[in-house]
Amino acid sequence: VTVLYLDHAATTPMRPEVGAAMAPFLSGEFGNPSGMHAVALRAKNAIEEARERVAGLLGARPLDVVFTGGGTEADNLAVAGVALAGGGRGGVVTTAIEHEAVLATAHHLAALGCPLTVVSVDRSGVVDPERVQAALAGGTAVVSVMAANNETGAAQPVAAVAAALAGSGVLVHSDAVQAAVSRRCSLDDLGVDLLSLSAHKLGGPQGVGILAMRPGIALEPVIHGGGQELGRRSGTHNVAGIVGAAIALEVAVADRKRLVDDVGEARQRFETALLAALPDVEFTITGRDRLVQHSHLRIPGVDAETLLVRLDGMGLAASAGAACHSGAVAPSHVLTAMGLTPEEAAGCIRFTFGWDTRPEDGDAAAALVITAAGALR
Ligand SMILES: Cc1ncc(COP(=O)(O)O)c(C=O)c1O
Repeated sequence: VTVLYLDHAATTPMRPEVGAAMAPFLSGEFGNPSGMHAVALRAKNAIEEARERVAGLLGARPLDVVFTGGGTEADNLAVAGVALAGGGRGGVVTTAIEHEAVLATAHHLAALGCPLTVVSVDRSGVVDPERVQAALAGGTAVVSVMAANNETGAAQPVAAVAAALAGSGVLVHSDAVQAAVSRRCSLDDLGVDLLSLSAHKLGGPQGVGILAMRPGIALEPVIHGGGQELGRRSGTHNVAGIVGAAIALEVAVADRKRLVDDVGEARQRFETALLAALPDVEFTITGRDRLVQHSHLRIPGVDAETLLVRLDGMGLAASAGAACHSGAVAPSHVLTAMGLTPEEAAGCIRFTFGWDTRPEDGDAAAALVITAAGALR
């Protein structure tokens, strides 16, 4: 069965350019970049070249780019790193729809004594910047608002949040892990002080994250050890992964317009065909500002898990909610925060298109979903 892969929000197939750039560092070039000899220096040069590339694309200085062991770790370092900087217990303001990488970190910090406010959202799935601003207190150190939600695809008004806080001394972080594939996400584009990315959502390898920051931000490390990454992230570098992450970001940026066009057409065809055959299909995000690669929906009377299993058997890979932590079938905290009932949430299914999606894949996917849903109703 040909697999129609529509789960790019969970992870993306690796771009060929990325694998090619990584290959030397998975075989002959094995050096530890922290060493002093030629073998080590070649690895160090590769990392520093990757850092410059990433810094240029994100509008940061190279020394303000930290490579981590994934998007989760970049989020942890941003939020905990700022809140705990200088031995403090800074306050955290975040939102109910963040990825667990931010939310669970925020709750962990609260247990350590950092004041925490989690801003709720309404059915739109979009955070209200005024509510974020109203949540600020004297001791707030960091505000974290994702650029777009990984489940629903709802884009968030990060720039408005950041603009409202300009000059306040409160640092603004954004998890741009899902948004960066289809939207401009430099520090200036988002207007933020810190941003997190994950290579595997961009056609790069799993297990590599990027945290980019404005100059002069002091971070308390989350991982302690040999002092790599200027003490901000200890541990021997994942050289191949870092090289791959930088190429992935570069290719993603260069190919963004083409991706947005193709994916936009695929989704348009998909949703139009679904609506024609299943007029009661409900799209979770009805506002206009959603990521072009996301289609999050439910078909009343059709259970998501059952539909997914059936689709999988037909060669279509999609997911229910966030696959990043799948296994547990608890109602999604994002959909719950938006006010969906447990039944509604259990019906939701997420199709996410990506760099290898062709416009006609939208038709093919719709045909499979219509057949599968028809058999289940
Ligand atoms: C919005 C968001 N943030 C963070 C992460 C975590 O990134 P990683 O899988 O690289 O740890 C993910 C997905 O897994 C995500 O979708």
